[in-house]
Amino acid sequence: MSTPHNSAKIGEIAKTVLMPGDPLRAKFIADTFLSDVKQFNAVRNMFGYTGMYKGKKVSVMGSGMGMPSIGIYSYELYNFYEVEKIIRVGTCGAFQDYINVYDVVIAQGACTDSNWASQYDLKGNTYSAVSSFELLNKAYEYAKKKDMKVHVGNVLSSDVFYGADSEFWKNWQRLGVLAVEMESYALFANAAFLNKQALTILTVSDSLVNHQVTTPEEREKKFLQMMEIALEIA
Ligand code: HPA
Repeated sequence: MSTPHNSAKIGEIAKTVLMPGDPLRAKFIADTFLSDVKQFNAVRNMFGYTGMYKGKKVSVMGSGMGMPSIGIYSYELYNFYEVEKIIRVGTCGAFQDYINVYDVVIAQGACTDSNWASQYDLKGNTYSAVSSFELLNKAYEYAKKKDMKVHVGNVLSSDVFYGADSEFWKNWQRLGVLAVEMESYALFANAAFLNKQALTILTVSDSLVNHQVTTPEEREKKFLQMMEIALEIA
C-alpha cells in the first residue's frame, strides 16, 4: 500500500518518526545517526528513511513547511503506516528576551492563527493543542540529565512567515508564548484526533526581540543537541 504522498510499504516505517521540516535534514539525520538505513520515500523529494539508533528502529522524514504540509504527512504516517509517535525537530523564532539563539525550546502546547481546528466543528470555540506528556516528560528529563538548556512552554504555530504587522509577536509575548514556528498545532491536533503521540523540539534560529540570527553552518552543528534528545526518547 502507498498513499498519494508516500510510496512506503506497510512495515517499512518505524513506530517513531522524527520530522524535520527540510527533507535534506532528514537525510542528514539518517546519515549521521542511524545505521542500516533504508530510504522509504522520495515522492516530491520528501525523503524518508528508516534505520537503527542504539538498537531501536527509528524513521526520519521531512515534513515540509507549514501546517498543510505537516498535516498531510503526519496524518498518513499515523493513519496508514501505524506510526505511534512523531517528534518534530525544527527551528523557531524567539518571542522572549531570555531566550537566545541555539537554545532548545520544547513545545508543551501550540497556539495558532490558523483555521486548522475548524474541521472539528467546535461551534466557534477554540481547541488548545498540546504535546504528549509522556514524550515531553522524557525529553525534559533527558535534557536535564545532560545539563542542556531547554525552555518548555507554549509556541505559536503561524501560517505567516512574512507578515504585514512586524509587531504581531508582542501580544503573544505578553501571554508568555516562547517562540514562533509553523507546524506544531496541526501535528498535535492530528495526534489527538487519531489517538497518537506527538512532540516538538525546536532550536532557536532567530529572535524577534533582539534580531539575533544564526548562520547555516552554525545551525547544522548546534542542532545536533536537539536531534540527540529526539533520538534518545524515540
Ligand atoms: N517565524 C516562523 N517560523 C520560524 C521562524 C519565524 O520567525 N524562525 C524559524 N521558524
